[in-house]
Amino acid sequence: MSDGVWAAPGRVNLIGEHTDYNDGFVMPFALPHTTVATVTRRDDGWLRLHSADAEGGPVELRVGDLRPGGPGGWTDYPAGVVWALREAGHAVDGADIHYESTVPTGAGLSSSAALEVVTALALSDLYELGLDRGSIARLCRRAENVYVGAPTGIMDQTASACCTEGHALYLDTRDLTRRQIPFDPAAHGLRLLVMDTRVTHAHSEGEYGKRRTGCEAGAAALGVNALRDIAYDALDTALARLDDGELRRLVRHVVTENHRVERAIMHLEADEAELIGPVLSEGHVSLRDDFRVSCPELDLVVDSALAAGALGARMTGGGFGGSAVVLTRTSSADRVSKAVLEAFAAQSRIAPRIFTATAAAGARRLS
Ligand code: GLA
Repeated sequence: MSDGVWAAPGRVNLIGEHTDYNDGFVMPFALPHTTVATVTRRDDGWLRLHSADAEGGPVELRVGDLRPGGPGGWTDYPAGVVWALREAGHAVDGADIHYESTVPTGAGLSSSAALEVVTALALSDLYELGLDRGSIARLCRRAENVYVGAPTGIMDQTASACCTEGHALYLDTRDLTRRQIPFDPAAHGLRLLVMDTRVTHAHSEGEYGKRRTGCEAGAAALGVNALRDIAYDALDTALARLDDGELRRLVRHVVTENHRVERAIMHLEADEAELIGPVLSEGHVSLRDDFRVSCPELDLVVDSALAAGALGARMTGGGFGGSAVVLTRTSSADRVSKAVLEAFAAQSRIAPRIFTATAAAGARRLS
């Protein structure tokens, strides 16, 4: 078969934020929203990309001319994947690809990872490369880091490639081992709401890079490879060794956040899903005050949701806009949503987009 249809989902991160570039732990799950690619293999050296959501006609690129630092825009993601495949020695010589997506863009729900992963999976199948899911995630991260030039970790690509329905994915970003953790809020009378603030603050990319560099400086000052190496029990001793208040805050966030992932897993595995609520909320305070990647809109979602009786709430993803996750009892979900919308209206802010998240399947071939 020289053509087919593939899908890859966006993701939301339940807990474990800004830990993936510190060799730490994350726990995302896949959303039902997907990017679907209809792909025909071609072997004439041309890559033809078309998106139902982009203005204008198809973009045509010669695969042999692909180099990091592309023109910018959405085509950099699939082009970067083709570049990374070829660079890894896979003789991918072109394709016609048409994309349609239901993953909200600019919402911190990994629409770019969905685009990368669906491209890599389709090309792996069509060119019979036999890439496993972990390799696809690594290759897509390389496309994003080197070709697109965004210094992200590996969480988003792994979530899109490796999640399974009804589970959150526990990923150790150091050795890349994965464990599927059953996650079905509805079965516990709970709901996980995603609230997309519909704002993205302009400086988000630069600030992400600064946090990453700061974490590396913290690890260097403490004489470890990565902040993952600071055990939760050793945090106070580590903090006492740092003079710089900024570094202390970054280190404290990463070390406590890794611990929160472990606490969340413990609760989920003990079938006490509602107990992750306070863990999520603590995570938000840490991201807001120590890591300083929140923003007024995310804080307003969290504060108004908690005031209305949510069990827990936190920003999710890189921060500076995008989405928050809110855990509620099913019986209070409508009340909490209404309270958040009212709080935004009272401040004359754009209304967040709210939906109930369920843990959906990772990337797959549809036909
Ligand atoms: C973005 C990055 C991820 C991760 C998160 C923060 O989504 O793409 O790699 O670092 O931010 O947890």
